[in-house]
Amino acid sequence: MIAIIGGGVIGLAIGWRLAAAGRAVTVFERAEAGRASTWAAAGMLAPQVEAEPGEETLLPFLLDSRARWAGFAAEVEAASGLAVDYRTDGTLVVAIDRDERVRIQDRMDYLARLGLALDWLSGYEARQREPHLAGTVTAAIFSPLDHQVDNRKLAVALRAAFVRAGGALREGTEVAALVHDGARVSGVRVADTAIATDTVIVAAGAWSRNIEGIPDDCRPPVRPVKGQMLALAMPPGAPLLRHVIWGRKGLYMVPRTDGRLIVGATVEEMGFDTTLTAGGQFELLRNAWETVPGIYDLPLVESWAGLRPGSRDDAPILGPTRLGGLVLATGHHRNGILLAPITADIVAEYVLSGRLAAAATPFTLERFTHRTDNVVGVAAAAGVGAGVAAEGR
Ligand code: FAD
Ligand code: GLY
Repeated sequence: MIAIIGGGVIGLAIGWRLAAAGRAVTVFERAEAGRASTWAAAGMLAPQVEAEPGEETLLPFLLDSRARWAGFAAEVEAASGLAVDYRTDGTLVVAIDRDERVRIQDRMDYLARLGLALDWLSGYEARQREPHLAGTVTAAIFSPLDHQVDNRKLAVALRAAFVRAGGALREGTEVAALVHDGARVSGVRVADTAIATDTVIVAAGAWSRNIEGIPDDCRPPVRPVKGQMLALAMPPGAPLLRHVIWGRKGLYMVPRTDGRLIVGATVEEMGFDTTLTAGGQFELLRNAWETVPGIYDLPLVESWAGLRPGSRDDAPILGPTRLGGLVLATGHHRNGILLAPITADIVAEYVLSGRLAAAATPFTLERFTHRTDNVVGVAAAAGVGAGVAAEGR
């Protein structure tokens, strides 16, 4: 039996691949599957507009996963019988003043140097695509290949696909500890019971480093990065927006097929705190209103906060550890929905064949144990600071 700790998008997607390959797999989920960071997310599949200088090692991995998304969505839908609302309308990054225009021009230049396909639009052209954008929008970048999926529907569908493929899902079941002899994994402990297994995949999101029994040198350096969000209800049949919009200070708006307009997100170093704050919600609403004034009268239907599993360099941590049978699939930070297809393929292949795909070699735990610099080169100071650290990408 293969044990997976954590029933988020990552644990479920890997579990589904392994179960479909005929392996006996149990996903242990201490609460309800798909209800942690996976539920909180915006579902953007947007490696281009979210690309940051210094992330050049991560970018090809993100683009590879994005290329798998259309097929992955179709497969999950076929396997579960449930829609995931994968949408290909594309993403607009808009500028609402002169400083913002300079900022997005810099961004366009940077992305063009990386060879990414983007279009520059005037404010008028942007409003032709999205008539509800503010009159102050002076320019925009259109990224046709940055798509979105309804991450909540995805979680429900993946859960169904996993169970239909024969996977065992144990919800409400916390893994209290890893059991091993110092060289190899022999099981997991649930309450007072040891459950024998020779392979354990840690996919416990922001909680991945907290599992008792993981040797210190195999413990993934993952921390929670809080994100506050809210949802507005667009008029049924007359949605305010069709594209995903990125506005000022890292504000984004994601229109769903069911009429919900997701507005996000703060980026806060607050440990495991998920309190909603007046300041966080105010900033989101103000930035959203400045970008699309028509949101003013929309009903506010939900507010929430989730915990991104941030790694020390903001890239995922995948593959084997020096402890035989212990495999990591965590640290996906702001891109776990985007990276689900490639993570599932690569980790399942590793478990089935013992071969780690070349694409994943920059993302093993080894990079933290054998090097002092960052592979991906960002967030060198990650893990410090407090408050609404940066709203942006
Ligand atoms: P989770 O979904 O958190 O799942 C981990 C699971 O492990 C949880 O269900 C937890 O209960 C369980 N668990 C923990 N410990 C144990 C234990 N000991 N025993 C049993 N179970 C345990 N990504 C994108 O690609 N696009 C986006 O637009 C996007 N937007 C985001 C917006 C916000 C506000 C946030 C918070 C995140 C966003 N993300 C986005 C990131 C994405 O949500 C995460 O990277 C992804 O969901 C991580 O998935 P996961 O399965 O690793 O973690
Ligand atoms: N990827 C969007 C977020 O993490 O907020």
